[in-house]
Amino acid sequence: MQQIKVRELLKSKETGKEFMVKGWVRTRRGNKNINFIALNDGSIIHNIQVVAEVANFPEETLKLVNTGACIMVKGILVESPAAGQPVELQAKEIHVYGSAEPETYPLQKKGHSLEFLREIAHLRPRTNTFGAVLRIRHAMAFAVHQYFNDNGFYYIHAPIITGSDAEGAGAMFRVTTLDASKPPLKPDGTVDFAEDFFGKETNLTVSGQLEAELAALALSLVYTFGPTFRAENSNTPRHLAEFWMIEPEMAFFDINDNMDLAEDFVKYLVKYALDNCLDDLEFLNKMYDNELIDRLRQIVENKFIRLTYTEAITILKSSGQTWEFPVDWGTDLQSEHERYLVEKHFGKPVILTDYPKEIKAFYMKQNSDGKTVRAMDVLFPKIGEIIGGSQREENYDSLLSRIRELNIPEKDIWWYLETRKFGTAPHSGFGLGFERLILFVTGMANIRDVIPFPRTPKNAEF
Ligand code: 4AD
Ligand code: MG
Repeated sequence: MQQIKVRELLKSKETGKEFMVKGWVRTRRGNKNINFIALNDGSIIHNIQVVAEVANFPEETLKLVNTGACIMVKGILVESPAAGQPVELQAKEIHVYGSAEPETYPLQKKGHSLEFLREIAHLRPRTNTFGAVLRIRHAMAFAVHQYFNDNGFYYIHAPIITGSDAEGAGAMFRVTTLDASKPPLKPDGTVDFAEDFFGKETNLTVSGQLEAELAALALSLVYTFGPTFRAENSNTPRHLAEFWMIEPEMAFFDINDNMDLAEDFVKYLVKYALDNCLDDLEFLNKMYDNELIDRLRQIVENKFIRLTYTEAITILKSSGQTWEFPVDWGTDLQSEHERYLVEKHFGKPVILTDYPKEIKAFYMKQNSDGKTVRAMDVLFPKIGEIIGGSQREENYDSLLSRIRELNIPEKDIWWYLETRKFGTAPHSGFGLGFERLILFVTGMANIRDVIPFPRTPKNAEF
């Protein structure tokens, strides 16, 4: 007999037929005559109720069917007399693959705090919350590829180990095979990376953008979707040291095309979640955030506000708010400022453009005012910055002079400069932080709860 997933079984109209399910016991209750087993196999948030007549099973078997145990059940599907489920399974055969001792199984009781669950990240996928989050995360990854494939983009795999530190997006993690206790030294006492595995200093990438640009200047429309690493000591609910980023890069797109794409893309993803993950969203809406589904619908239905950084500063300065970080033209916006604009002032997502060049990366296209660059940040309620991007500087001379101004070693970036020397083209792109998206879509409050195994300062267990 073939195994059927709980998701399919709950929809089945074939009462009277025998089915086989395999999964993990959520609860077993009942009396000396009859037991009710709630069984979940991760295919859906809901459980199948298994009804077992105690007399039909050896005592040793049912004793092992405790919360957390993994079992196989064969039984007859019947309409459920109880409310809350359409069908249930009348057990004929039960096999226990693995028991879970009630005295020591950490998920014996319901209602553990998210903080506690972080300490048992090896078991938390078995909770309803993480089942829902992980299914939504999967659906969003799938939708990312679907969207780009449908729109003529090619998926580019940017390297994870990189020899360039040019992006400047954040502190990097070094990749080395040198002996940390006695590295080879140069005469001046610094580490001699010529002796290292790659013959030079290498790090984990902070972004796939520069490589995506190289590919876009050949394939026109490309995107990367991979892990990125930042060694900053930011212990916030929105930062990870290892996170996934989606970075589309488009030849012949200006900043307005870039904003149009970003808006269309995130709306597509949110709508995809509403259309395909409603069971899980309803669970999260009920358990964590009563406004979640409304907020998702509002994203899909509203046009995003677009304004310049300079306009935003004027709004923030005349807001009458007191800020932890004061605002003035030239300062970087903090999460409190971003969220004020989105949640209080406009009540809609905001795309800010034309930031001061000093607070943005070297590759952004310079405006004719000499002060600002064609950057764009997409700001979301509850999250703040969810996307960062820009039109890129495609003019060789302007790019080179900015690189020199910032003292970026030309020997590290000659290949990037060459794309501006040979067949350069106007182009643009952006990066969507995948976990920030999942935070938004699930309504979870901490980024550690939307990635299976979070990497944060002082935390890399599992
Ligand atoms: O704004 P960022 O640093 O932009 C880039 O890396 C560009 N190369 C993107 C591009 O133009 N192709 O990062 C992009 C997004 C942010 O908006 C945020 O959503 C997310 O990545 N992000 C993080 N997410 C989790 N933890 C961190 N430490 C993050 N840093 C950035
Ligand atoms: Mg940014």
